[in-house]
Amino acid sequence: MPDSQNNKQALVIGGAGGIGHACVQYLEQQTNIATVTVISRNSINSTCSKTTGIQVQQQNEDSIRQVCQQFPDKHFDLVICTLGLLHDFETGLSPEKKLEDINEQAMLRYFQVNCILPGLWLSALVNKMNPKDSQMVFLSARVASIADNRLGGWYGYRSSKAALNMLLKTAQVEYQRRAPGCQLIAYHPGTVNTALSKPFQRNVKPDKLFSPEFTVQCLFKVLANLPDKPPPFYLDWQNQGISW
Ligand SMILES: NC(=O)c1ccc[n+]([C@@H]2O[C@H](COP(=O)([O-])OP(=O)(O)OC[C@H]3O[C@@H](n4cnc5c(N)ncnc54)[C@H](OP(=O)(O)O)[C@@H]3O)[C@@H](O)[C@H]2O)c1
Repeated sequence: MPDSQNNKQALVIGGAGGIGHACVQYLEQQTNIATVTVISRNSINSTCSKTTGIQVQQQNEDSIRQVCQQFPDKHFDLVICTLGLLHDFETGLSPEKKLEDINEQAMLRYFQVNCILPGLWLSALVNKMNPKDSQMVFLSARVASIADNRLGGWYGYRSSKAALNMLLKTAQVEYQRRAPGCQLIAYHPGTVNTALSKPFQRNVKPDKLFSPEFTVQCLFKVLANLPDKPPPFYLDWQNQGISW
């Protein structure tokens, strides 16, 4: 996304989460960003005139397509999709430690949030991206790497994020034809101090537990320096490629 023009349109999907909210705040401060559209299950109360919140209590194929119909003339320059689920202790959802922990309901929920909803956004937005020069970032995770899986465990989260990565690989082929300047990015932010990672922070060294604000600065540094090779990219917060 070149900095030279001040008319860039950004969309943040999942704008009330730790990283999503920090993305919205960052984008509101950028002079080259003209509009920030924010999708969330929660109502978005921003005082910034650039920002429009769209509350979608239940994301599904119908609601996502209906939202996209509200953008008849929009061409987004940047989309950041933060949707992600790792645990929900209120309903007993917790990442699996052993094979016996795998259960159908949990797997369905992991795939729904981490893969199917992002896939529906990829589908609904293909004609809404600036076809000449735009970026779509999907928050993935390093644990989704099939090539680099030494620890095992977290079956639902890992496999649903790996499936998200495959969606991005596959979609880039078609985006190349339909929106050739649109680059798809699977992004690992490191371990970030948000509700998602809270129960799993005990063994993280303090200097490796990032604030959402630092995370967003890293993300935008990476976006400004994408590798000089064909997309899609699977990158971490240090702009290092991760093996798919
Ligand atoms: N935190 C980390 O250490 C870490 C590490 C690696 C990867 N990531 C990835 O980074 C992304 C953002 O995570 P975060 O740390 O900011 O966690 P978070 O605060 O829990 O945010 C999760 C986001 O997912 C959305 N979401 C969750 N369940 C949903 C559902 N059923 N339907 C629709 N949206 C749903 C929420 O959207 P609403 O706006 O509607 O609440 C929220 O924006 C996730 O994809 C996560 O997997 C995080």
